[in-house]
Amino acid sequence: MNAPNRSLRGLDLRAEIDRLRKDRNAVILAHYYQAPELQDLADFVGDSLDLSRKAAATDADVIAFCGVRFMAETAKILSPEKIVVLPDMDAGCSLEDSCPPDQFKAFRDAHPDHIALTYINCSTEVKALSDIIVTSSSAETILAQIPQDQKIIFGPDKNLGGYLVRKANRDMLLWPGVCIVHEAFSETELLKLKAQYPGAPVLAHPECPGHILDHADHVGSTKAILDVALSSPSELMIVATEPHIIHQMEKAAPHKTFIGAPGADGNCNCNMCPYMALNTLEKLYVALRDLQPRIEIDEDLRLRAKQSLDRMLDMAGRTVGQGDVGRPVFAAA
Ligand code: 13P
Ligand code: SF4
Repeated sequence: MNAPNRSLRGLDLRAEIDRLRKDRNAVILAHYYQAPELQDLADFVGDSLDLSRKAAATDADVIAFCGVRFMAETAKILSPEKIVVLPDMDAGCSLEDSCPPDQFKAFRDAHPDHIALTYINCSTEVKALSDIIVTSSSAETILAQIPQDQKIIFGPDKNLGGYLVRKANRDMLLWPGVCIVHEAFSETELLKLKAQYPGAPVLAHPECPGHILDHADHVGSTKAILDVALSSPSELMIVATEPHIIHQMEKAAPHKTFIGAPGADGNCNCNMCPYMALNTLEKLYVALRDLQPRIEIDEDLRLRAKQSLDRMLDMAGRTVGQGDVGRPVFAAA
């Protein structure tokens, strides 16, 4: 981890980041869960799918990724010739932690007739052991293209997996991982909030458990939730995902009110992602200045992980019935 040091005192960090961005020919990508000051200076803010697409298409020499490690690794897998820096290398993810590659491989080996459809929130090793990667915004589209009789392992998020099972009416073997942030929403507190604001739509991310999604009016990726928040005629909405996304909602619709869904005691910070919070303006400046900490991936591993990501990018752009993906011969785990 590269902690900012005393010499940063007195620096105009925003101006310095702008200078370095030009000098380095760098692009700054940020996820919606980042602190507002990082979102505001990013060249692009998006959900996991859009950030992957940007990383794959950029002509910058350096990608400074304000997000978590699996996102920066995805950028490096798709753009290996770029320097990819992550302001804090400790910015992990509870879903990634829940799915150690050796255990995932053993699970796959125990189910040789299943393909592995895997949420992008996982390590590069797990991507390399998977057949197709999905994001929350592409999972339904991609699942609909897989033949009905094909058996599927879905990991590592059992909540997103459970949501897909119910929505697509299709059985899948679920890996038992969860996002600690979305797990922390309280159904009791949410019901109190709904009673306080009758008629306020609830917008929820599919990483929430089923007992929260049961009360949602709209379920979708961060980008999908943002789109609904802006297009909805409602003036007041309840948002059940990491609350930093509300920054974009308030910027684009200042006349509307967005209330974050509460955690267990109705007033905790447990819905803030502790991993995303590790990135700061100071660390972004240092990362651009030193081009460290840098994502490095073994080339053989990268190429194996790229196959499942390329399938995602290909299949996410198709609509159901458009082109036949047939029954691809997937790599053995
Ligand atoms: P999306 O932005 O793709 O919806 O993912 C949410 C998330 O958990 C990122 O860590
Ligand atoms: Fe991982 Fe949850 Fe944080 Fe997203 S919000 S990075 S899924 S811990």
